[in-house]
Amino acid sequence: MTETTASTAFDLGQTDRLLTTTKAVSRRFDLTRDVPMDVLLDCIRIASAAPIGGNREANRWLVVKDPAKKQRLAELYQAAGNPYLASLREAAEPGSRQSRVVEAGQYIADHLAEIPALVIPVRFGQPDETSIYTPQSFYGSVVPGVWSFQLAARSRGIGTRFTTYLTSCAEEVAEVLGITAEVTQVALLPVAYYTGDSFTPAPRRTPESITYLDTWGVAP
Ligand SMILES: Cc1cc2nc3c(=O)[nH]c(=O)nc-3n(C[C@H](O)[C@H](O)[C@H](O)COP(=O)(O)O)c2cc1C
Repeated sequence: MTETTASTAFDLGQTDRLLTTTKAVSRRFDLTRDVPMDVLLDCIRIASAAPIGGNREANRWLVVKDPAKKQRLAELYQAAGNPYLASLREAAEPGSRQSRVVEAGQYIADHLAEIPALVIPVRFGQPDETSIYTPQSFYGSVVPGVWSFQLAARSRGIGTRFTTYLTSCAEEVAEVLGITAEVTQVALLPVAYYTGDSFTPAPRRTPESITYLDTWGVAP
């Protein structure tokens, strides 16, 4: 890993492109190419620099490459995700962006077992509304690192997708992978090299329309 010492300035063209075009990958995953463990560890090293509440290094990463375990996770994923995807499909206008998003999600459900690496970020403990470890604090200590992982992967030509369907059957996932009860699963990232590099920024509202200054509802 290289260290930046000479300058504090970043190439904004490059960093802004990285930040705005790191997308949820689906059909462009290269299912034929392995993602080496040392590359994944590099991404995890970078991800570990992200903020964590109370400096409590309680995050862990589980990388699943074993075909039989991926197959079992895929079956659980389909059981959890397919009914939801079917309901979204029914509500989506044919040919709309939402309809394309649903079909991209279906592709992941159909091909999960073929994706070279499934990366599961977890954290020791559980969110607790009644303590200082609120859900905000708990998940806020994991998700910045997950996004850093996704950015680090993208910088290396590797695509990712943040998925949460499997968190709805975390106990079954825990059984497949031997995850112990004190650990909370936060997401599952399918990870593979991507093909092509024509990712475009997602259409989003303008910053002025979603930002208020000093008083709620007052535009900046
Ligand atoms: C909190 C969260 C949960 C998500 N869960 C899933 C999931 O379980 N399965 C899936 O295929 N995509 C999942 N996604 C990916 C979104 O569906 C994806 O971001 C959406 O299709 C929009 O695509 P874009 O990010 O390229 O604009 C999730 C994204 C987020 C932020």
